[in-house]
Amino acid sequence: MTATAPPATSSDPTAPAPSTFGATSLPPGPRMPIALQTLAMRTRQRPFLERARRRYGSMFTVQVAGLGKTVIVSDPELIKQTFRADADVLHAGTGSPLRVMLGDHSLLGIDEDEHMQQRKLLLPPFKGQRMQKYESVVAEEAAREIDSWPDGVELATAEPMQRITLRVILRAVFGAEGQRLQALEELVPEWTTLGSRLVLAPWMQRSLGGRSPWDRFGALRRQIDAIFDELIAVAKDDPDLAERADVLALLVQARHEDGTPMSNAEIADELVTLLAAGHETTAHTLAWAVERIRRHPEVLECLQEEIAEGGRTYRDATIREIQRSRPVIAFAGRVVRKPFALGGYDLPLNTRVLMAACLTHYDPALFEHPDRFQPDRFLGVVPDTYTWIPFGGGIRRCIGASFAHMEMDVVLRVLLERAEVLPTTEPDEAWAFRGVVWAPGDGGRIAVRHRVLRNGEPALAAAASASGLTTSSPV
Ligand code: HEM
Repeated sequence: MTATAPPATSSDPTAPAPSTFGATSLPPGPRMPIALQTLAMRTRQRPFLERARRRYGSMFTVQVAGLGKTVIVSDPELIKQTFRADADVLHAGTGSPLRVMLGDHSLLGIDEDEHMQQRKLLLPPFKGQRMQKYESVVAEEAAREIDSWPDGVELATAEPMQRITLRVILRAVFGAEGQRLQALEELVPEWTTLGSRLVLAPWMQRSLGGRSPWDRFGALRRQIDAIFDELIAVAKDDPDLAERADVLALLVQARHEDGTPMSNAEIADELVTLLAAGHETTAHTLAWAVERIRRHPEVLECLQEEIAEGGRTYRDATIREIQRSRPVIAFAGRVVRKPFALGGYDLPLNTRVLMAACLTHYDPALFEHPDRFQPDRFLGVVPDTYTWIPFGGGIRRCIGASFAHMEMDVVLRVLLERAEVLPTTEPDEAWAFRGVVWAPGDGGRIAVRHRVLRNGEPALAAAASASGLTTSSPV
């Protein structure tokens, strides 16, 4: 996952090593001053990159303050070669601006053997069969939130969606309940918002004492870690630990290849990584979902009809189309650590290569009429691994992809079951950069009319019984 942000500073041990190999070259690219290119990447990224692609083709170099010369790639064959490169040739973690924010053990900040080992420990909870266990938590949290929305009044969904996705991760993935859940719910939004700002401003990543952003960020992290320590201790004492489905319980039981357990610091870094990687991405994709379907009443109608019939195929296709047309993470990034030839260029060491979902997904040679929102294009079609890349790819592909898909599927279903979503003729919301994710500029505004329930049950209880849940169902 790549924020359009500067890398770690040169005093940082994760900073790139100096380049050591000879005749190398970079593809041409825009010659505007670096300040203007940086501004364009932050504010008008897609039009800027589209223009560059029209002029220079599907591989070109841009210059961004802090990132230096960066190769943008949007050709599926080149993306394939990049995703498939050996782990020691291209790094994704060390040198990532996210490492300094998330900790040295974070999956997003490590590479090679260390990465593979840690990834193996984290993957099992996110495999297909486990998803069903998490669905009931998502349905319950979605119903709780949606039922609180006023009837017929417009509101931005970005925050409500973040509340849903945060509570889902905290409950399903961390097994948090009660006071600890509440405390994390209060701490995490401030920590992630501050982190998204700091990742763009490495000069602010130092202690200035008092309540400077970096000190505040550190203090919040210590408070979060203290709660994680308690959760870990509770899990270790839990006689039913082996029966639990949450990720924290699985991490506590996980063993490295040498048989040693994960330390609390390792577990904490992975938990904040899952929080940082998982909750805003999913929430803003859901906010885009609202933004898209309100502007396409024919899609809304198909979704509603399918729900009435108990199907989900069209909803699946719609989610894929939302992620194609509004990828919240614009790039999957790698850094060249050993000689790497791509598209006829021997790229210099430490060159950053960004695989651009924001370009590939809009290539008319790959997706007919890319500007049109057409879920049908994914009906009965498995998206291609190297043209549809909202979750990145290769050995770094998002480990939460199935989880995120399940979550978006359940939230959309619950929304459409419980409320009539009112279409709008307002212009499309603009793309707004939030530090890591690209979100709908007005927060994905919605207006709903709650459906009258035939049996007169209170809304939340009805949702719970329809999903076969109680409102306090254990995970
Ligand atoms: C719509 C929602 C999501 C999107 C668009 C998304 C996107 C991405 C992308 C683009 C990457 C980088 C892949 C690469 O470099 O090739 C990534 C990595 C990652 N994501 Fe997600 N993600 C989402 C949800 C989640 C969720 C729900 C979780 C977990 C709860 C999660 C956990 C991770 C982790 C741990 C990584 C690092 C994988 C590694 O480096 O091996 N993500 N995600």
